[in-house]
Amino acid sequence: MDTVSDRRLVALLRRYGADEAERVGARIDPLLWNDVLAVQLAHRSVRKFLPEKVSESHLRAIVAAASSAASSSNLQLWSVIAVTDRERLGRIAELAGNQESVRNAPLLLVWVADLARAARLATRRGRDLVNAGYLESAVLGIVDTTLAAQNAALAAESLGLGTVFIGALRDHPTDLASELAMPDHSFAVVGLVVGRPDPAEYPEVKPRLGQDVVLHREQYGSGAEDGEEEGVAAYEDAIAQFYRGQGLPDSWSERVLGRFAAPGALGHREGLRQALLQRGFGFE
Ligand SMILES: Cc1cc2nc3c(=O)[nH]c(=O)nc-3n(C[C@H](O)[C@H](O)[C@H](O)COP(=O)(O)O)c2cc1C
Repeated sequence: MDTVSDRRLVALLRRYGADEAERVGARIDPLLWNDVLAVQLAHRSVRKFLPEKVSESHLRAIVAAASSAASSSNLQLWSVIAVTDRERLGRIAELAGNQESVRNAPLLLVWVADLARAARLATRRGRDLVNAGYLESAVLGIVDTTLAAQNAALAAESLGLGTVFIGALRDHPTDLASELAMPDHSFAVVGLVVGRPDPAEYPEVKPRLGQDVVLHREQYGSGAEDGEEEGVAAYEDAIAQFYRGQGLPDSWSERVLGRFAAPGALGHREGLRQALLQRGFGFE
């Protein structure tokens, strides 16, 4: 029988693997479940899409969800560029690690931290954007943009569409800005490919770290004493099976260290600071 607690257990099993799903499930009231949680827990990045277009009405609903995200002081420091032109997508794919999901995207949403609107306001009113060069201003824009993008992803998934974020849009920020005619004081934080998932290549949900690893109470835990090593070891077991199925190296810890402890791993993105400076952001 398909009861609420069955559906919730299946969602937790996919998200965490059996042991952690049991632990987490035991701490949630049996009736605590809803459609929003179901969509959130079922998230998986989709990289293969059917060729059908994303309709204008879907796009508008997705942007309404993005606009509904909280925004620091309601400054709304973001814009989104919807790209569907195949030649432009091909050029953007070349700037973003030649990813097929970008080249074949039914729709690519480029999420832009946008202080350019504030700059235009300042110009129109004869004022100077004297605080644009502070790191806080860049962070404001990037946080607002990211919250909007995640709301959009969730909305798309709630409508049966698939999504994948594209951080590789930050590989060549200057060239991308030219391709998209982006003004100074704007920066493409991340892309989001949206489309109808190809059922032949619909991915599984990827397990996440257990809650004892990510959830701290009152103060940040010490790591060692709080069982972080055991928690990470348990996660390695849960994720190894997933990665092996994808033909990927199966250690999550090595994945993290491959990014942060391997010189050169950031590739072009080592130059991000310089690119942001050129685009009118600052680090004061
Ligand atoms: C900011 C961000 C950037 C990402 N960039 C890429 C990317 O360039 N290419 C890609 O295939 N996936 C990208 N992803 C997807 C992640 O690889 C994916 O979310 C992660 O492996 C977890 O898998 P899941 O989304 O299926 O749960 C990105 C995700 C985020 C949040």
